[in-house]
Amino acid sequence: MCGIVGYVGSKKAIDILLEGLTNLEYRGYDSAGVAVNVDGKVQLYKAEGKLQNLKDVVEKNYAEISKSTIGIGHIRWATHGAPSIINAHPHTCNCGKVAVVHNGIIENFKELREKLEKEGCTFRSQTDTETVAHLVASKFAKTKDLTEAVRLATKEIEGAYALCVIHQDVKDTIVATRRNAPLLVGLGENEYYIASDVPAIIQYTKKAMYLDDNQIVTVTPSSMKLIDIDNNPIQGKIETLPWEPVALSKMGYKHFMLKEIHEQPDVVRNVLSGKLRAMDEPITLKEVTLDKEKLKNLSRIQIVACGTSLHAAMVGKYIIEDFCGISVDVEPSSEYIYRKTITDKNTLVIGVSQSGETADTITAVRQAKAKGSHILIVTNRPDSTMAREADSLVPVYAGIEVSVAATKSYMAQLISFYLLAIYMAEIKGSMDVNELKDLKHELIVLPQKIEKVLAHKEDIQKCARAFSGSKDFIFIARGINYPTALEGALKLKEISYINATGYTAGELKHGPIAMLDETMPVLSILMKGKVYDKILSNSEEAKARNARMIALTDSSDTKLNELFDYIIRIPEISEILSPALAVVPLQLLAYYIAEFLGKDVDQPRNLAKSVTVE
Ligand code: AGP
Repeated sequence: MCGIVGYVGSKKAIDILLEGLTNLEYRGYDSAGVAVNVDGKVQLYKAEGKLQNLKDVVEKNYAEISKSTIGIGHIRWATHGAPSIINAHPHTCNCGKVAVVHNGIIENFKELREKLEKEGCTFRSQTDTETVAHLVASKFAKTKDLTEAVRLATKEIEGAYALCVIHQDVKDTIVATRRNAPLLVGLGENEYYIASDVPAIIQYTKKAMYLDDNQIVTVTPSSMKLIDIDNNPIQGKIETLPWEPVALSKMGYKHFMLKEIHEQPDVVRNVLSGKLRAMDEPITLKEVTLDKEKLKNLSRIQIVACGTSLHAAMVGKYIIEDFCGISVDVEPSSEYIYRKTITDKNTLVIGVSQSGETADTITAVRQAKAKGSHILIVTNRPDSTMAREADSLVPVYAGIEVSVAATKSYMAQLISFYLLAIYMAEIKGSMDVNELKDLKHELIVLPQKIEKVLAHKEDIQKCARAFSGSKDFIFIARGINYPTALEGALKLKEISYINATGYTAGELKHGPIAMLDETMPVLSILMKGKVYDKILSNSEEAKARNARMIALTDSSDTKLNELFDYIIRIPEISEILSPALAVVPLQLLAYYIAEFLGKDVDQPRNLAKSVTVE
């Protein structure tokens, strides 16, 4: 969603702001803007649409703008008010001296706006953010101190925010603060960077300080001061950021999504590394702090997540129930939070999130935490808000994922669930020792099988070409691959905008079969195992209604050739581990269809990489 970059130092601020915003583009946005200070005057530049539009505006005035060594920038994903230049950030107060960029939602903005209008403020936009600019200006008028003005303003603001503020009369100073929205400060040589996420600054510095909720930081080229909302000084913790700038390069691939799909064999190796050491050694998950006795006595597990992470959670349910015999409920976080939270200290609540910043999942785990449940977070971002809520953490180590469509993070989540389920089964003694060994061996050789699928991507490309004209798509599966069907359909719809739906194959004849005719492709996920024959029968039923049939299978049965128009074959794999292999061709299928259709693969319309509003 929205993204923030700030800079104060001796370099041309505009270059750093635009580069930083470029590296946040993947988050999804609809307008962009910057504020700089040229010859003692705050100047704003904004544009609707892609960042290139803002770059074009800046280009025309570059000589002037590049004089500034301080600035704040923003990409906006509209919440209050349409995407437009007027609503784009930064926002200013009446006199234009205060400029503010903001991520999040100011919940009491209407009350604040009414109050400020009575005091004489004139609002130009429909945004909630503009209230902050006026509020800070009103506090500054009384205190003549920007940090104090921001501090007093945050006392009146309700909701979620990461804020970055400059004032024309307070030379070379940025004040930034956060509540329920991420923000960090990057440290350079006589310069500071502010960012809502690491990619914005990683090419400039690896030294950073994450802000906690209600902390306020004031930076100048030569100083950094951190206080809490009650004005107590705080000693911030400086960390070394774990990423390399190269993570933000496409490395020769046409899109980040394709690059990230190809990274999956290494992602599996990374996730297993240090946790699965040998087939006869137990799994180690050092950040899982749940007491072993408590783990043995767990009565229930609840998993909350959204989107692709929800599909990983559904696979997680299947394997934890299978390996450990503990009942697992999976629910979209956005549903979990609006009904009675029935959980307790004997229930383990697992939050799954690539970004660790998904607002609904954060709220869900907080609600469960308040009821005394142990909170285990599975995330790709151990530096995220959700990770900070965790009692136990399973970092998935997929590396930064730039494409909005999640691929390698899903793989990392799946593998983490296998490790977690085995870890729990080993503590509970609920799984046969030989079965465990076989599974561990299969996990170790999984990267090679994924590599084989990737090596035959031309077959999938051909299939994609053949079906790229379809308006609708149905994916069917049963059991552990039902989530794979949902994930395949989600990938396809989010990047190609084709109406794709995943069904349990058994449900087909309870309604969806009515839609079948020669215009409707049906993709059957047919992995060898206990539901293979059943899905085959369901596929026959679909074929009898003239649907165009695609099989995704690890079977070499030549009889399938009669039933299916197209067969995507993958290496043999045990049914229990098959979701981790079967998803790869579906990611590629979605990718190639979207590419044939000329869609914006990495930044699909209307979507944001991390959904930080409920
Ligand atoms: C995945 O392709 C999606 N873009 C989306 O569904 C995503 O998985 C969802 O928003 C959850 O995000 P999270 O994993 O960061 O919590």
